[in-house]
Amino acid sequence: ALISMRQMLDHAAEHGYGVPAFNVNNLEQTRAIMEAARATNSPVIMQASAGARKYAGAPFLRHMILAAIEEFPEIPVVMHQDHGTSPAVCQRSIQLGFSSVMMDGSLEADGKTPSSYEYNVDVTQQTVAMAHACGVSVEGELGCLGSLETGEAGEEDGVGAAGKLSHEQMLTDPEEAADFVKKTNVDALAIACGTSHGAYKFTRPPTGDILAIDRIKAIHERIPNTHLVMHGSSSVPQDWLAIINEFGGAIPETYGVPVEQICEGIKHGVRKVNIDTDLRLASTGAVRRFMAENPAEFDPRKYLQQTINAMREIVEARFEAFGTAGNA
Ligand code: G3H
Ligand code: 13P
Ligand code: NA
Ligand code: ZN
Repeated sequence: ALISMRQMLDHAAEHGYGVPAFNVNNLEQTRAIMEAARATNSPVIMQASAGARKYAGAPFLRHMILAAIEEFPEIPVVMHQDHGTSPAVCQRSIQLGFSSVMMDGSLEADGKTPSSYEYNVDVTQQTVAMAHACGVSVEGELGCLGSLETGEAGEEDGVGAAGKLSHEQMLTDPEEAADFVKKTNVDALAIACGTSHGAYKFTRPPTGDILAIDRIKAIHERIPNTHLVMHGSSSVPQDWLAIINEFGGAIPETYGVPVEQICEGIKHGVRKVNIDTDLRLASTGAVRRFMAENPAEFDPRKYLQQTINAMREIVEARFEAFGTAGNA
């Protein structure tokens, strides 16, 4: 069944678990997520970016998610729009039937330039007014996502600030968060706490507190009724990097956010955990390996099935680790 993000995350908060939010662009990702959800009895957040709408086309995306709900009727599903760049973009997603939208007003409508606080409040307020009237939840964002190690926002072609960021820009201010929530009434708030989008988050194996856990704690204490969202939460599995590189890939050494660190965040109010890169890496590794080992094969279903299996394994592992399993 399709439910709102508010409904799903209220349950997660009450029971102290987190929900991974996976990006979907195609049938294989959708099936991998739904099959993992059924196997572990987990609620699902599927999110579509502007890039996903461009790739699949809005009607295909919408019907793919509706097909998931039809085939897996026992699984609660949130259909969420990731990184909306304006109230108008969010409005179109609401019209398409999304049950939750993100208005990312931390950046200007170009999706690159850090915006003013006033701009962020204004566009988020507009989105909440529209969405709440339709029973749709809203995620806002405050702060600039960036790796506390490298100072980079990550991912050049995706959503993210351009250029180097200062330490303070990369940490959401708890007082500002309280003011933002009071003014906008968002259901969930994406915070900056040391993660960045894409595969290149850390150049060395992350040790200790790679995330600003104290900051997460302080924000949660200030706005306990607002569900915290962690973007850039891929763990960049080293086993998949090795497979990619073994079978012809060339991905330089890089590290993501350890699952145990995300679990620390979940203990302190993080309820939605955005993951895209990990499933991309698993898909690519699965295809490269299959192609190399089966050079005479040319049925796309054969190698795409490998991508489903690879992604499904990661999705199941996150459902188990975040405590999502058993809560559908
Ligand atoms: O936040 C960005 C997500 O990873 C989606 O990426 O815009 O390439 O679809 P995308
Ligand atoms: P990753 O690039 O770490 O998977 O983050 C995805 C994300 O935050 C989507 O909004
Ligand atoms: Na931001
Ligand atoms: Zn994101």
